[in-house]
Amino acid sequence: MEKLTGLKKLKTAVFISGTGSNLKNLIKFSKIKKTPISINLVISNFNKAKGLKYANQFKIKKKIFNFNNIKNTEKKILTLLKKEKISFICLAGFMKILSKDFIKKFDGKIINIHPSLLPKYKGLNTHHRAITNRDKFTGCTVHYVTEKLDSGKIIMQKKIKVATKDNSKSLAKKVLKLEHKLYPAAIKKIFS
Ligand code: GRF
Repeated sequence: MEKLTGLKKLKTAVFISGTGSNLKNLIKFSKIKKTPISINLVISNFNKAKGLKYANQFKIKKKIFNFNNIKNTEKKILTLLKKEKISFICLAGFMKILSKDFIKKFDGKIINIHPSLLPKYKGLNTHHRAITNRDKFTGCTVHYVTEKLDSGKIIMQKKIKVATKDNSKSLAKKVLKLEHKLYPAAIKKIFS
């Protein structure tokens, strides 16, 4: 495996399941001058994921896997990643859990963005939980992916205030905006 340092742009795959605003943002980031990554592949577990349109728009190779048989699917994904010489993976709203074996093969080369201030609120419904608990702050985290869900080493976090009038929807919107700042910053940090 290639080391995550140096001047060469790392061939990166982005895994998505939904809207893909983080994907779009990472594509934009991959096109600026001093970027450490190039995005060469988009993988989705859902053929109707809205974010796939960005792969089309920016002419990036995309592939959909249904994940019915995880072992088989991951084997196919690994073959594809090898073929495309991918050495870095960004999960961006990807709703499937990758196996321990898969993660081992890309150890330290898979990162994820999560919409909470980890270790608070691992898993789903993070904004709802922040509202229910009347948290004063929330935010987002970019972390390394390990076999334990949302528990890998934290690379970077960004924090915002929760307003008294916020609900989970308004909070999700605010945090997503913050995510778009955080994800590129965290990638820059890894390579700096
Ligand atoms: C983001 O909030 C991300 O943190 C979470 O799912 C959402 C995906 O948004 N895991 P998008 O698909 O990147 O627009």
